[in-house]
Amino acid sequence: MRRITVAIDGYSSSGKSTMARELARRVGYVYVDSGAMYRAVTLYALEHGLIHNNTIDREGLIKLLDNIRINFAPAGEDGTQHTLLNGRDVEREIRDMQVSSMVSPIAEIKEVREHLVRLQQELGKEKGIIMDGRDIGTTVFPDAEMKVFVDASADVRAHRRQKEMEVRGEKVKYEDILENIKNRDHIDSTRAISPLRKAQDAHVLNNDNLDHTQQMEWLINLFNVITHE
Ligand code: CDP
Repeated sequence: MRRITVAIDGYSSSGKSTMARELARRVGYVYVDSGAMYRAVTLYALEHGLIHNNTIDREGLIKLLDNIRINFAPAGEDGTQHTLLNGRDVEREIRDMQVSSMVSPIAEIKEVREHLVRLQQELGKEKGIIMDGRDIGTTVFPDAEMKVFVDASADVRAHRRQKEMEVRGEKVKYEDILENIKNRDHIDSTRAISPLRKAQDAHVLNNDNLDHTQQMEWLINLFNVITHE
């Protein structure tokens, strides 16, 4: 069985992180959440006064990019992977609405993307990796042997995200979540540098009407076919 690179891209809250994480656990690959890296940079910018009234101090942030260290480490009772920003566990903070509302404008900055794409490519150089995001199959790993593009309607995605936030004890209005999702979809798919696009050779999964088990069956079946080719 050959070791491959798996790229999973798709719209916000399409369930790609859950799928990617579980596939990695089942097949013993490394899982990397590239969105968490853009979120960590956004949190850093917020904490260092580089965002005022929704305006980003781009030059200031670009100068500080080399000071931002992002790692992943197992944490919590269940040993799930958490994001570390300069050694601090920020898994919870990077998911809050303040970060969610600024992350797409931060992810439009060319230098931020170049910096994070370099780190992502470094993490994947040994293969045996599953990475999810927006530009993994198109820009980060254009030669990935397995590419998946996940889609679902905005309404289904907003309901899923609201449930996730409720589990974490955060109460956010459905309308606000839907607006944030639509806003990010728009910025992510229309930006100049590596916009969210289905790679030509990606397999599309629309999971509007699929439950978790059905999605995983689809994904594992595809993985088995590709690794045994
Ligand atoms: O949690 P959700 O699925 O909504 O998004 P995420 O994967 O955590 O990514 C957060 C944001 O980071 C996205 O809306 C994009 O603006 C940006 N992103 C990106 O530009 N490129 C990636 N490879 C991953 C995320």
